[in-house]
Amino acid sequence: MRVHVADHPLITHKLTVLRDQRTPSPVFRQLTEELVTLLAYEATRNVRVEEIEIQTPVTTTTGVKIGEPRPLVVPILRAGLGMLDGMVKLLPTAEVGFLGMARDEETFEPVTYAERLPADLSDRQCFVLDPMLATGGSLGAAIDFLFARGAQDVTAICILGAPEGVAKIREQVGDRDVTLVLGSLDERLNEKGYIVPGLGDAGDRLYGTV
Ligand code: PRP
Ligand code: URA
Repeated sequence: MRVHVADHPLITHKLTVLRDQRTPSPVFRQLTEELVTLLAYEATRNVRVEEIEIQTPVTTTTGVKIGEPRPLVVPILRAGLGMLDGMVKLLPTAEVGFLGMARDEETFEPVTYAERLPADLSDRQCFVLDPMLATGGSLGAAIDFLFARGAQDVTAICILGAPEGVAKIREQVGDRDVTLVLGSLDERLNEKGYIVPGLGDAGDRLYGTV
């Protein structure tokens, strides 16, 4: 498994505002979108492309277009939805599938409550969006789900990750082709399974408490 942790002052600046408990939901949503677009630049480094020939006003030349089958972007509901616009801005031809997961806050086990994905993911490159990688239960379940449907490789974009979650995913995926792209690798989890220093509950901060 490859792990890429962002190291860029623009990302650190936006993350600082995102972490600040005074940041209101509209700003939190805007910053989440901007951060995803920056992280997606790294996450799509190995996106499959096909060579094409084009005519410029001056001459013919070769370039590339996003290859077939199209990449699949999978936000994990609810908080991952806040990352979708930022991702498809960079990858407008991608298809989008949805996975609804909620973490049981006592056991930290993920419960899958919705799924809307193509039945066959053979040969597909998948990009999973989830702002928080805490214990790794939710992301681990999503990755297993996608490989069980035949996905070729999975890249997960998370705004924040905890070392415990990264270790769990590393052990779980073995030699399957998985890449994690993180805005920050934080210090640890607290006793409630929250990332420290973290940003709190990403879904609540994006959408308000339910
Ligand atoms: C949050 C977050 C992740 C998960 C991370 O979702 O968006 O999906 O927790 O925790 P884990 O790594 O320990 O599984 P939550 O279950 O709170 O649902 P929400 O997105 O609807 O708020
Ligand atoms: N889910 C969140 O939204 N935040 C955390 O810190 C951990 C799990």
